[in-house]
Amino acid sequence: MGIVEKFATMEYGPAPEDPQEAIAWLERHGRRFGHFINGNWQAPAAGRYFDSTDPSTGEKLASIAQGTAADVNAAVEAARAALHAWQSLSPHARARYLYAIARQVQKHSRRLAVLETLDNGKPIRESRDIDIPLVARHFYYHAGWAQLLKQEFPGYAACGVVGQIIPWNFPLLMLAWKIAPALATGNTVVLKPAEFTPLTALAFAEICQEIGLPAGVVNILTGDGSTGEALVKHEGVDKIAFTGSTEVGRAIRKATAHSHKRLSLELGGKSPFIIFEDADLDSAVEGLVDGIWFNQGEVCCAGSRLLMHESIAEALLSRVRDRMSNLRMGAPLDKSIDIGAIVARVQLDRIQRLVDQGIAEGATCWQPSIPMPAKGLYFLPTLLSNVHPTSIVVQEEIFGPVLTAMTFRTPREAVELANNTAYGLAASVWSESINVALHVAAQLKAGVVWVNSTNLFDASCGFGGYRESGYGREGGREGLLEYLEPVWFKQAPTLGEPTQLKHATEQVHGEGARVPAEPPAIDRTVKLYIGGKQARPDSGYSLVVRAADGRALGEAPLGNRKDIRNAVEAARKAEGWAKTTAHNRAQILFYLAENFSQRREEITKRLSAVVGEKQAFSELDLGIERIFSYAAWTDKFDGAVHYPPFRNVALAMHEPVGTVGIACPGNAPLLGLLSLVLPAIAVGNTVVAIPSESYPLIAGDLYQVLETSDLPGGVINIVTGRQAELVKVLAEHDDVDSIWCFGSDELASSAKACSIGNLKQVFTNEGRAVDWFDAKQGEGRWFLEHATQVKNIWVPYGE
Ligand code: NAI
Repeated sequence: MGIVEKFATMEYGPAPEDPQEAIAWLERHGRRFGHFINGNWQAPAAGRYFDSTDPSTGEKLASIAQGTAADVNAAVEAARAALHAWQSLSPHARARYLYAIARQVQKHSRRLAVLETLDNGKPIRESRDIDIPLVARHFYYHAGWAQLLKQEFPGYAACGVVGQIIPWNFPLLMLAWKIAPALATGNTVVLKPAEFTPLTALAFAEICQEIGLPAGVVNILTGDGSTGEALVKHEGVDKIAFTGSTEVGRAIRKATAHSHKRLSLELGGKSPFIIFEDADLDSAVEGLVDGIWFNQGEVCCAGSRLLMHESIAEALLSRVRDRMSNLRMGAPLDKSIDIGAIVARVQLDRIQRLVDQGIAEGATCWQPSIPMPAKGLYFLPTLLSNVHPTSIVVQEEIFGPVLTAMTFRTPREAVELANNTAYGLAASVWSESINVALHVAAQLKAGVVWVNSTNLFDASCGFGGYRESGYGREGGREGLLEYLEPVWFKQAPTLGEPTQLKHATEQVHGEGARVPAEPPAIDRTVKLYIGGKQARPDSGYSLVVRAADGRALGEAPLGNRKDIRNAVEAARKAEGWAKTTAHNRAQILFYLAENFSQRREEITKRLSAVVGEKQAFSELDLGIERIFSYAAWTDKFDGAVHYPPFRNVALAMHEPVGTVGIACPGNAPLLGLLSLVLPAIAVGNTVVAIPSESYPLIAGDLYQVLETSDLPGGVINIVTGRQAELVKVLAEHDDVDSIWCFGSDELASSAKACSIGNLKQVFTNEGRAVDWFDAKQGEGRWFLEHATQVKNIWVPYGE
């Protein structure tokens, strides 16, 4: 027998990793764990425990405390008590703690890798070579940020006490993604690991003890969804960071809508894996194996939808099937295993149910004939072809080793299919043509795009979703911002009253109808401004706008649902604005300033009747300054290039969020509106603005200026009317990507509550007063950061 032949037919012998160190650790704890609160182990208040088991054998690993509201309370109190001292430490001192954690993770890496594999069922090769090294890298990277915090984020402060809830697919890695940036920025933490995989979080708690982290800075609370729910609802928590299913993400959004808790959500995905005809097929197939069969496919960014050029489909699928037949499935602790066990029975059942549904809908199911362990929770690698873009297996996240395959003919069709999903977490693009790959990458609605690569992660590169995959980023500079707030904002007084000016508007019937004989006569009737044109309101009603002394100043249209829909449609159609060069956007903004300046006298004259002459001039002059600022920012608020430790660069692109609905503040009718609309359009968003109810007539001045500027129609649309009613319509509208709400607190709550359906981002003043006349508060990066989302495009580079 020749050597090559022998090599091909050789059997693998067993190569188990030695679990003794991890088992000894479990034994040392009597295989029973309380919560880690205030630096100590504490028995659960209600005395209840549940089992954590090894999914590959069904054997119990340990008893785990079930957290209740009382435990949550104790943990949040401990975190609150520790906050001040932790924040008062020097950045260097915090950096040393993070560094110590990183070192300790490396020291215990074998124990942690084995524990992770025992608890989750993932192959030891992955936990040893990917999960744990990335955990250490995350703490090293953030030790660096802790050190640089003051220099790099002047004017920002920690959110406070952060509640963090993580899933079971990368237990310790998700913990690192949450805890490292939170601690680096000076927050204290209560973290709840997933009920199926709490062990490495508990081992991490011990690491915190070992390095002498001050008590209460990190608290680990175990339990199921009800424990998570209690944490989300606790009033002492300033921010919630969640990774998990979109369904629970929605529940959390609902539970926090009427609070001022900040929220970041990293939710599900259904990521496309796109292969063009000129791709290096061998590499693409290897990439695909990693894309969908890494971690049993229990990966939020799994490349679960294969989209391949029609001409290569047959050849490619044949290679994929060959490769699937060579995958090894079995005991996760075996070092030469590719696919381990599924985390829990309910997940296995869910995968089976979805695959059955797919087959019932007409999919062709192919699975290799490879040996399967006799016991434990395993699911064969599965290929579903003949699927339709709308079939359940193409639309729903399966979270298992299941790949669906579809074909396309042109890059445009590939992009359409790729974006035909409510999710937008990641994508992988394979082509030897850099033009094709980057052209497609730019059009994909996803937070991460890997060119000729897949599943690359690094602490320096932000990770997170578009659309229903959630919002907020983990990693990179943008990840830190999730745990920081401007100092002025934290200190801003809470608004008692809604921010409207004192006088009211009143509704009159019929467009142009006059108020009964009430001198002086109304001198002005403005219109809506939609798609670059003045438009009459659908209702035919209008609002009479009064000056501070009760005089009627004019009529503003009473916009309704239909007007908002028209405005959103116009804004969507104007999305080409995002592709306009930054230089052109800057030029148009400068021109806008010029036109405002020319109309200075007439605009301020009208505005004076409502806010007084002094404020009117100040609003206009500062408004012009603000336009200059954002004209300046357009070509300076750019992204970054990261150098992750691979043969890659990652281009962190600042992309606009899309169509933004903006409810403007009432205390500065002109300046407030400009302060919100400008940052949004400066970076390429299109806008539907609802002016304040106190002086909606500003719309008239605004569109006159817009009409004489070169801003394309539809980039700014203005609908006047009752803010409460109009914000609700915007929040519920599926084509609006983000809501900015700087009116009353009730308005902001309603925006959050009404947009749970498509989980749009909501940016509000959280009931606090914003001084629009102070440039430190009213303009700058904080607004631009909310106007953009970062897309990281990983491109192979160098040797
Ligand atoms: P899940 O979203 O229910 O669980 C994630 C975490 O949230 C766990 O710690 C859980 O205890 C907690 N949780 C559950 N209900 C909660 C509530 N009402 N309030 C606060 N916290 C709550 O995910 P699960 O049930 O483990 O998996 C279900 C499906 O979710 C999977 O089949 C998969 O499709 C998807 N999933 C997606 C993940 C991702 O990273 N994209 C991660 C885990 C699951």
